[in-house]
Formats: sequence, C-alpha cells, structure tokens
Amino acid sequence: MKEEENKQYYSDKNGNSPFRGLGGLLRENIKRLVPYSSARDEYQGEASVFLDANENAFGSPLEQSYNRYPDPLQIEVKKSLSAIKGVPIRNIFLGNGSDEAIDILYRSFCNPGVDNVILVPPTYGMYQVSANINDVAIRNVPLTPDFQLNLEGIAEAIDKHTKMIFVCSPNNPTGNSINRADVETLLANFEGLVVVDEAYINFSRQRSFIQELTEYGNLVVLQTLSKAWGLAGLRVGMAFASEEIIEVMNKVKPPYNVNEASQQLALQALANIEQVNAWIKETLIQRDKLVLGLKDFEFVEDIYPSDANFILVKTTDPKGIYNFLVQQGIIVRDRSKVELCAGCLRVTVGTPAENEILLNTLQDYK
Ligand SMILES: Cc1ncc(COP(=O)(O)O)c(C=O)c1O
Repeated sequence: MKEEENKQYYSDKNGNSPFRGLGGLLRENIKRLVPYSSARDEYQGEASVFLDANENAFGSPLEQSYNRYPDPLQIEVKKSLSAIKGVPIRNIFLGNGSDEAIDILYRSFCNPGVDNVILVPPTYGMYQVSANINDVAIRNVPLTPDFQLNLEGIAEAIDKHTKMIFVCSPNNPTGNSINRADVETLLANFEGLVVVDEAYINFSRQRSFIQELTEYGNLVVLQTLSKAWGLAGLRVGMAFASEEIIEVMNKVKPPYNVNEASQQLALQALANIEQVNAWIKETLIQRDKLVLGLKDFEFVEDIYPSDANFILVKTTDPKGIYNFLVQQGIIVRDRSKVELCAGCLRVTVGTPAENEILLNTLQDYK
C-alpha cells in the first residue's frame, strides 16, 4: 500500500486509536437489518401458560424436558461468565463454539467479493475457511521465523477494504504468545477490528486482552469453553467486545444459537472453576515433562516454546512418525505442510498415562 493511502488507515503511531466507531465498518445490509423477533424476545416475564412458540406442551421423551426454546441471549451463563471474567454482560456474546463467532464477524463486517481481512499464517484454519465461505478476500502476511507479527508487512497489506485482522495468541499451531506490544500497535493504528483469539489463554503466561476492552473500541477477544474448560462437545464460545459490536453480533446470530442443554451444562461447569484450575496446573506440568521426554529423541530437531496445551515439535520425518503412531493407535496432528512448520507435528498434552504411552511408543520408532 502507498504512503498517503497508508496514513488513512494508520495513525502517526501516537497511540491514539484511529477507530471511529462501527459506522464505516458495518455492512450496509446489516445496518438496516431488522433481526428476527422470537417468541422469547417478545415475552420474557413469568407466566403459567406459554402458548406462544408452537412448542410441544407435553414435554420431551427424555428424563429431562427440553421442550421449551432456550434463552436467546443466554443471560444466566453470561452472568456466571461475567463474574469470572470481570466483564459486563453487555460486552459478552455467546456462540455455538467460537467458530460461530468468527463466522458472524465475517457476515457482519465484510462485504462478500469486496472486503478483505489480514491473516498471519501459520494460524488457526477457520479464519481462512470462514473467509472463503463468505467470499471475503484474504491477505496473508506470514509470521516472522520466530512466529511473531510482521507489522510492516501488515501495514503494507492493509487497504480501505480491510475490515479485520485475526491474531491468535497463544497461536495455533505454533503454541507461542504473540508479543503484546505488537498487538497493541495494531489496535492503536488499524481502523478495522483486531480479533484476538485467546482459545488457549488459560494455559498462557500472558494476561488476557479482555482488560483492554475499555481502551480499544476495535478489539474483539475470542475465548472458548472447548479447551481448558473441557467442554468441546457442548459448543460454547465467547466473544468479548464493545457493546456496539456485541449488539451487532446478537442481531446477526441465529435466534437460539446455544441450545438449552449446553446452557445448563455450561452453567454447572462454570461453578466448578477449581477443577479446571487444577487441570490447567497439571497440564502445564505434563507439558514440561513431555518436552523433556521428547527432546532426547534423535528424530526431534526442535521443540518450540508453548503457552498452550500442545507443543509444536520439529522432526526429521513427520510423515513417517505420524504413520507409525497411527499404527499404534496414537493420533497427533501432522502440520508439516503448513507454512513455517516444515517437519512439524503438533502434539496435544494428554493425561500422564497418555503422555507416557506416547513417549514409550516413540522409543520403538526407527
Ligand atoms: C485458536 C482456536 N480458535 C478457536 C477454536 C475453535 O473453538 P470452538 O470449539 O470454541 O469453536 C480452536 C479450536 O481448535 C482454536 O484452536
């Protein structure tokens, strides 16, 4: 991008965010959108006879009844999250996994066939897939060899149609955290949204960007109950952002995007934070042990520092090791075809027993 154009989207780096609100970012059809008004939106109070939503009034053919539609805005779950995260309910969006939040961001802000986003590979694959589904152009600015942001490259790639930059920290698949000051540079200088995906933040030494929400109107933080919280099967993801952004996301989402069973179980789980914290501690201990165990193998060339619940391991023979492990019933992720990850396998930290099986099995790899 040329100098003068650049100035339009980047300030003079004096720290004042050039973000001037959502007006210029939102798609026109979304600005005009009248959201679906569900029965639960139209009447929320107490009543004894609900004949407004065409549900089965008799119940469900289950021990527990799910015959009523769930709360479209998941207020009870949000109350609990609000207490844990220290973020007001009005700044929280819940989705059917954070993958849904990613898709809704594209659908809200990016005009298909016109707008673009900046991705910084190697990174989480759904940013690209969601862009492709929504016909949004991708400008890839690869991370540096030490897996950090190439700020100059990003500045050059931005044009007036760039709506979002996705930064995953800790990053999947590399495992490292992105330098905080670099993310702040983006937040302070980019007119569009900076989406910081913190799916693995519970395992990180870095603090969350959630605390910066009051500082930056263009910040969206994604988190999930799928990783440290152990609820991947329930599909509950979160976005934290300004009230304006959350309102847009709520308008665009399907009315009942988080089902009743997931809401109830998430609420129960959120009351059990001690268990989750104990698992996080144990995962970090196991991560260190796994690193120690792996680094002695001759076929391991490098193990990258991890702030997540997985490690990226550079090997001399990724395909061979992967296939060998599959034969023994152990599945890791082959990331060797991914940019900057030649030779690499991504290994999730398992239970002590699973990690031991992995290390013992690798002893037999020739
Ligand atoms: C960085 C990152 N973001 C988001 C997700 C998806 O999370 P969810 O299960 O909440 O859709 C993943 C899953 O692997 C991930 O690695």
